[in-house]
Amino acid sequence: MVGHRLHQLIHSVAGFNIMSAFPDLPLEDNPEDIVGKAQRGLGLTEPQLAERAGLSTDVVVALLEGQLDESALRAVAPVLALDADSLVRQANGDFEPEPVELEGLLMANTEFDDMTVNAFIVFDPATRVGALFDTGAKVDPLVEQARALDLNIEQVFLTHTHADHIADLGNALQDFAVGQAMVGEGEGFAGAVPFAPGAKFAIGNLQVETRLTWGHAKGGITFVISGLKRPLAIVGDAIFAGSMGGGKESYADALETNRQAIFTLPDDTVVACGHGPLTSVGEEKANNPFFPEFKQA
Ligand SMILES: [Fe+2]
Repeated sequence: MVGHRLHQLIHSVAGFNIMSAFPDLPLEDNPEDIVGKAQRGLGLTEPQLAERAGLSTDVVVALLEGQLDESALRAVAPVLALDADSLVRQANGDFEPEPVELEGLLMANTEFDDMTVNAFIVFDPATRVGALFDTGAKVDPLVEQARALDLNIEQVFLTHTHADHIADLGNALQDFAVGQAMVGEGEGFAGAVPFAPGAKFAIGNLQVETRLTWGHAKGGITFVISGLKRPLAIVGDAIFAGSMGGGKESYADALETNRQAIFTLPDDTVVACGHGPLTSVGEEKANNPFFPEFKQA
């Protein structure tokens, strides 16, 4: 349990240009997870999906269990409004987002039940003022990183309030001496101060814009941060590299708000997801099966 997380802090001699190496994580979802999320999101049974795809129900069930037959993937993809080539690339292990370097972003990946979850600190390198985004299972790794860099963490923001993202909220507030966290009002979460989507915040000299990306969660928020060397979007479970969180509340709205709030950002925007590796808007346009419209160049 100890030492599963990579975080090397590399300090330059002068103390500037502090870069962190981010955990090297596998993709959160397998192709069968993606097919299952789309199938459930569209409310199709296995026999219905099979019929529309011209497959036997057995083949669809096998696909959902991870027997990834390329022709079956290509048959179900259009029925599910998924991009077939992206799905097949993932099935072949041919998609991995480019490693990210971004001064001002720290990340921790912690174990929660049988999965792992990400939490982030964003800080202004000029003033050393920072903010925490979600807590993950344990906030300690980010507390250590913040101490090592002598950061002042002044705010705690929540992308959404699913248990894995706020599991260590009490300790986070205590360790960083922050009175209360901030949360999108749509979450209806009593343990934090609500704000309306569109509210703006500052982290030192950095600007934070908030956008509603709901559908996975009732009031999920994407935080768009400008002022670092690349634009940055902290998206919670709205997007994963090559996938997205399930549409627990509304699959249609999860897709639609992602299109409006995230896919309109510049291609070089770093996308910091609640699970799995960092990615970028451009890479998701090219590789995320849920958004086929960007593949037609
Ligand atoms: Fe979630």
